[in-house]
Amino acid sequence: KTQVLPITPESVALAARLLQQGELVALPTETVYGIAADARNGEAVKKIFEAKGRPQDNPLIVHICGMEMLNGIVSEVPERAKKLAAAFWPGPLTMVMPRGPEVSDVTCAGLDTVGVRMPSHPVVQQVIRTSGVAFAAPSANLSGKPSPTNAPDTLADMDGRLPLILDGGESNVGVESTVVAVTGEHPMLLRPGYVTKEQMEAVLGEEVLVSPAILEKLRDGEVARSPGMKYKHYAPKAQVTILRGDFAKYKEFIKQHTEPGVWALCFDGEGAQLGVPFIEYGKNHDGVTQAHHLFTALRDLDKHGAQVVYARCPEQDGVSMAVYNRLIRAAAFRVVEL
Ligand code: TXA
Ligand code: MG
Repeated sequence: KTQVLPITPESVALAARLLQQGELVALPTETVYGIAADARNGEAVKKIFEAKGRPQDNPLIVHICGMEMLNGIVSEVPERAKKLAAAFWPGPLTMVMPRGPEVSDVTCAGLDTVGVRMPSHPVVQQVIRTSGVAFAAPSANLSGKPSPTNAPDTLADMDGRLPLILDGGESNVGVESTVVAVTGEHPMLLRPGYVTKEQMEAVLGEEVLVSPAILEKLRDGEVARSPGMKYKHYAPKAQVTILRGDFAKYKEFIKQHTEPGVWALCFDGEGAQLGVPFIEYGKNHDGVTQAHHLFTALRDLDKHGAQVVYARCPEQDGVSMAVYNRLIRAAAFRVVEL
């Protein structure tokens, strides 16, 4: 039986105790809800993969609450990582660094690197501080589903699969953290998020390369630097298609494709003009509000039984790059140019 508890000193203490005992706890972060287990304890981390139905070769991110906790988690803190940490930690940025001796093999899926992030969410910080446990935590969805951004959506996926969900309300950012590799000759963006490529370039004074898996489908035989990028992801039950073009063309397309089961996934203020049921997922040209609403919108489409979804196309720079990256996976890379 899974308990859902509000944030109190008692529930935080219970979460800390469960983590120390090698159990799972689902909890809010500023990006999305996560499932935490002690990153040093391979048996505990295995339970995460079982609860999510996650492929074993997809590594997890280790969450810390202070720079001193990097000891043993990473073997070296590259200069770039120090600069980025000073600018963006605590916050929604994960850095892939050389792996330290204390992280379980299960956490890193056997890689010689480890992704580390210092979240800004006060509940995560309290749980880490109280338990002393640096925890591995993927998003709290069943593998392949959109990441949950609130406790009810977490419960919908995880009921009966773990003992405790801490309910800290809605996650602010709404999409998972930015992942950047800081080890190679050039820094490389592996997953776009709220901390943007442009912001990191400004701090580093050098170009941040973009992994090809981010905006396009990998060709057969191509290897994703971030194993998570190769899986089908964020997929609602409906068939989603992105329509690239202005609103007038979008409206015209929808008019010509109006059938039962067709839904529009559009920007704020647009839905009422379309003549089909709709969900609005944020303001046009505003990646921040789109990121905040996207995953809830995808889950809501399923709740309404949408069969075919036509989505407005986000931009591809700034925070919108993260929105486009998630939406194009939800759409199984179906994009129509209007
Ligand atoms: O915002 C977040 O990062 C959330 C919250 C809970 O903190 N966590 C999250 O974890 O999104 P997850 O497991 O759903 O996504 C982790 C991503 C995957 O794409 C994985 O392949 C990549 O990070 N990753 C983790 N460790 C890596 C490594 N050593 N090298 C390359 N990619 C790595
Ligand atoms: Mg995930």
